Amino acid sequence: MLALRDLNEAYINGEWTGSSDGGLFDVVDPATGSLIGQVANCRAEDAEQAIAAADAAFPAWAAMPAGERAKMLRTIGDLLVENADDLAALLTAENGKPLAEAKGEIQYGASYFHWFAEECTRIYGDIVPMQPNGTQILIRRVPVGVCAVITPWNFPNAMLARKMAAALGAGCTLVAKPAEDTPLSALALATLAEQAGVPKGVVNIVTSSHAAEVGETFTKSPLVKKLSFTGSTRVGRLLYAQSAPTMKRLSMELGGNAPFIVFDDADLDAAADGLMLAKFRNNGQTCVCANRVFVQASVVGEFSAKVQERVRNLVVGRGTEDGVTVGPLINRAAFEKVQSLVADATQAGATVLEGGQGHPAGDLFFSPTVLANVEPSMAVAAEEIFGPVLPILTFENEDEVIKEANNTEFGLAAYVYTQDHQRIWRLGETLEYGMIGTNTGVVSNAAAPFGGVKQSGFGREGSKYGLDDYLEIKCQHIGGLG
Ligand code: SIN
Repeated sequence: MLALRDLNEAYINGEWTGSSDGGLFDVVDPATGSLIGQVANCRAEDAEQAIAAADAAFPAWAAMPAGERAKMLRTIGDLLVENADDLAALLTAENGKPLAEAKGEIQYGASYFHWFAEECTRIYGDIVPMQPNGTQILIRRVPVGVCAVITPWNFPNAMLARKMAAALGAGCTLVAKPAEDTPLSALALATLAEQAGVPKGVVNIVTSSHAAEVGETFTKSPLVKKLSFTGSTRVGRLLYAQSAPTMKRLSMELGGNAPFIVFDDADLDAAADGLMLAKFRNNGQTCVCANRVFVQASVVGEFSAKVQERVRNLVVGRGTEDGVTVGPLINRAAFEKVQSLVADATQAGATVLEGGQGHPAGDLFFSPTVLANVEPSMAVAAEEIFGPVLPILTFENEDEVIKEANNTEFGLAAYVYTQDHQRIWRLGETLEYGMIGTNTGVVSNAAAPFGGVKQSGFGREGSKYGLDDYLEIKCQHIGGLG
């Protein structure tokens, strides 16, 4: 059993602490509306203390042999796996996702610690020999310094894990602000870092509902050398602009509007199964969720029937109940947005094949919904839905669907189902997305570079490339050698 202390304080410089003004904010279970806890509501002053602690801890952490850092990362990953049941229960309580999915998220988070425990031992540079006058060029890869990270509520453990494992592995220290809806999983992760022996000041968790104030403190601070943000494109743009005066390194993992394209030569059962994963994971609340399902006209009837059958098998309810596969939306604003997108689409001529309204399981539950006859101009196709709504659009040929799939400001994930290998290659080249799932509905994996293009942001998380975002390249010319 995980020795979880009371998760009601922020974690700054190795101390569990209240906020400077004594304020607290509520954490609520979205499935029931009941209060699960109150947490320190940090202010700018607390964020500054956390940054100062991370700055003080940086030289020793950066100088530590990579193998020692790797050992701690591996231990955090192991602790996540060992305590998966308790951590998943906490995650379900604050986020609402079904327990089985929450357990999957803990394993997913652990996979980043295990991955970067390996990768961080392979950070090394180059020597470029034989330059004029006997000079040699030595190229080092060094940690950028203090990193501030702002993480979302949809994966309260894994999104922090993905940033924290890479940053710590690279030799950076960290100040994290978790989403105010789900701060507890981040605090739980800090307890594991503490248990793994991570020195004080290396990891700091600033819990707060004053998101703009803390974000501004991060972006303004000259001590913070890098900011990594996962969240909406709107907030990403603000943080980007605020970071300009201090010339911060940035990683932005922002919104998406993923096309899911089904050609008439696809294995339609496999495509329907893949779509269920790509659409209903975390109740449609991921930035890589299928947002526009393009089906070739000749198979749209057959494919829609397969999807409807699967959607009817989803079980909506509290994440703690056995067999539940779809939980609540995160909050009232999320529910209202989904409701209004469905209303707008039906008024504009879309047909409801399944669902279409709130679900009796509770205030924030929405029935898994399938819409047919959707047009690209409808808000449900033009905007990121972030909910359990599956809009079906039709297309006639490959050129048309590529054009329409790319007709968005976003470029995070896309999915394609086809058995034509030449087409797979062509779409890999022509779809303007950072990640393309081909005959799979899953693109999330520690070994794969996660990130987007266009207004979906920049920077890559996970994979061997994930360390680059936390490293500077430094070059030393050494003359007089020969
Ligand atoms: C996200 O929705 O922000 C990330 C989802 C993932 O890692 O699969």
